[in-house]
Amino acid sequence: MQVPFYGHVRQYQNIKSEIDAKMQEVLASGQFVQGPMLKKFEEELAAYAGAKYALGVGNGTDALWLTFMALGLGQGDELITNANTFFATIEAVWIAGCTAVLVDCDKNTRCIDPAAIRKAITKRTKALVPVHLYGQCAPMDEIRKIADEHGLLVVEDNAQAIDARGANFKIGELSDAVCISFIIQKNLGTFGDGGAIWTNRQDINDKVRKLRNHGSSKRDVHSMGFNSRLDDLHAGVLSAKLKHIKEWSDRRIEIAKKYDAGLKGCYFLDLPHARPGYRHVYHLYVIETKNPADRDLMLEYLQKNGVDAKTHYSIAIHKQEGFPWGKAARLTPPLPNAEKNASSCISLPMFPELTEEEIQSTIQVVRDWPKNRS
Ligand SMILES: Cc1ncc(COP(=O)(O)O)c(C=O)c1O
Repeated sequence: MQVPFYGHVRQYQNIKSEIDAKMQEVLASGQFVQGPMLKKFEEELAAYAGAKYALGVGNGTDALWLTFMALGLGQGDELITNANTFFATIEAVWIAGCTAVLVDCDKNTRCIDPAAIRKAITKRTKALVPVHLYGQCAPMDEIRKIADEHGLLVVEDNAQAIDARGANFKIGELSDAVCISFIIQKNLGTFGDGGAIWTNRQDINDKVRKLRNHGSSKRDVHSMGFNSRLDDLHAGVLSAKLKHIKEWSDRRIEIAKKYDAGLKGCYFLDLPHARPGYRHVYHLYVIETKNPADRDLMLEYLQKNGVDAKTHYSIAIHKQEGFPWGKAARLTPPLPNAEKNASSCISLPMFPELTEEEIQSTIQVVRDWPKNRS
């Protein structure tokens, strides 16, 4: 059996009529950029998130750097974030002209470690950028406390965790802004690139609305800006999909429970750790080989045996060749947890449309690894 890693085509087939209807509506409106469907989706997203404002932009990376710019962050300002994240988090810090300060993650959850944040703070620190990695919220209550003690801004990189929540907080409740990516494979994904920001701060909303549209909020009147808009066709796809997000997250959680149960007792693995009381929505189900030397062998074995596994992310940012490419960066070594995560992570197939046979087959192939280890 071949178990695929991505399920977006199956997802489209399952709700084809809903998505097609939205696309037809956009095509018939004749307004494809900053049209009525974008407005509608922004209202739906704000209502869903319980935020005053939501605004669509070109992608999740832009959502981050446009927010940093709107907050007035720039050269000399240090932004503290995870060493173990997708590269785009750090790129966005650099695009805004800021300094990236990379800190270690928690040894269990792999989300940013508040103790490591505390150690990294200097007079130049201006903002904290926690990543809700793999679908689990960073401990925002602890992060908010640190931000309050030091007068820092907080921007949540929520590219991977729509519909997650903490034990006693919602995403967006304890920060200045939340940034999300809608790229194809995300839990809420469109058929290409897309992103958004949600916030309760009117100044962020107003500034990014202008910045995303060539610095213009009135025809022919401009200040310096960019072109980063969420097209109406994408907004239509997302509007159709947003209605399903809760049921899809529930299914991801159900699949994670099956993996947890099926892989229990695999002495050669560490399984994902969900913090008690948190709703982890498993954008990715990431196992780690106890022995980093086994990772590449196991990955190859899984792929050869029909399980399309991948890595997120096998090279920590500060270990990429050429880092930091002349950009402003500060490390707060040691980063043992981020480095262990990078050297031993394997993501198993995880999407709501996985079948029972595929889930059980994946479990069996993983369990059989010791017998097949070459
Ligand atoms: C943690 C994280 N931050 C930022 C991004 C950037 O989003 P995009 O690819 O839409 O620019 C992604 C995903 O791609 C991500 O996973």
